[in-house]
Amino acid sequence: MPNAFISGTGYYVPPRVVTNDDLRTQYGIDTTSEWIVQRTGIESRRYAEEGVGSADLAVPAAQMAVKNAGIALTDLDMIVFATLSPEHCFPGSGVYLQQKLGLCDGPNAKFVPALDVRNQCSGFLYGLGTATSMVKSGAAKHVLVVGAETHSAALDLSTRGRAVSSLFGDGAGAVVVSATDVDRGIRSWKLGADGRFADTLSQRIWDIRKRPFIPQSAEGVGQVQPELMFAQMDGKLVFKNAVMRMMEVLMEVCVAEGINGTDIDMFFFHQANLRINQYLQQHLGIPDEKVVHNIQRYGNTTAATIPILMAEAVEQGRLKRGMKCAAIAFGSGFTWGAAIIDW
Ligand code: UT7
Repeated sequence: MPNAFISGTGYYVPPRVVTNDDLRTQYGIDTTSEWIVQRTGIESRRYAEEGVGSADLAVPAAQMAVKNAGIALTDLDMIVFATLSPEHCFPGSGVYLQQKLGLCDGPNAKFVPALDVRNQCSGFLYGLGTATSMVKSGAAKHVLVVGAETHSAALDLSTRGRAVSSLFGDGAGAVVVSATDVDRGIRSWKLGADGRFADTLSQRIWDIRKRPFIPQSAEGVGQVQPELMFAQMDGKLVFKNAVMRMMEVLMEVCVAEGINGTDIDMFFFHQANLRINQYLQQHLGIPDEKVVHNIQRYGNTTAATIPILMAEAVEQGRLKRGMKCAAIAFGSGFTWGAAIIDW
């Protein structure tokens, strides 16, 4: 059975920087930079322009990952696309990405499978686990795993929505998971979910149990109330569970791998709140130089946080071959996951 390793990483964030002060001055939100920085560590985020979607953001990230993997786009055997902000209800963003990468054109078109993953902040790790299984089973040699989000289109950018909208930003990260006979790569990984908290962090635009699934006006126009149109969150409950589950799942993969936290050279924590990660870091006694963050610059980019962190760490020369890494995520569902990777 081959090993599955991350052969290439890539990322892309849209150029428009929106600072905490911009939320106040450009959108009229009653907030302060002090409040946001103190509670979350976020200083700015990126917003894509109108007309740009998650598959568009994913294109340069995927191209960079494929180039860094030293393969051609046509070598890919599968696309796994994790997002909570797909272009449309259906089809998923994976097929749009496939088309935008030119993989449906010309004599080299292979029409590889494209799978969308709907596990929000844990989506990348759910995708990584899927890709690892596909590669190890021999079903695929190179799988593109993307996390990409266009949050800015679906945030309640008003004082009413500030508790959620101040947290999120747009961006895309990608990795290629490839087969190798070398003793390296994605080792133990573990995923979890607790559906009792399905409504604790959710965006319930429609209700398929209702007839019709979105209320209509007399003229037949769909009407969605703001509390359904925009994501709702019980922040304190999410925070508590995030700390608990991330700690637990990290311990589980360490035990499965027979290692201690001190054996890990670099930690990629999901970027939901700098305070969550600092709490974990302190509790586990992890020194600063072993942790990378980007929430200060990008906010929470949900499925994209971990692959962006990885791609930036490679680009900055911090993440090197032979390092032992841990990736840990938690989010809506609740869902969570962790993986140990020998880079
Ligand atoms: O990736 C998905 C997972 N998500 C997370 O992990 C998020 C986890 N939760 C959190 O990070 C924190 O709960 C938040 C940062 C979201 C919120 O912090 P909090 O300490 O739980 O604040 P809160 O929601 O209890 O709100 C406290 C106050 C409220 O005002 P009142 O009711 O006390 O008058 C809010 O209206 O802060 C107010 N508030 C704000 N004020 C200024 C909420 N958002 C803002 C804001 N600016 N942006």
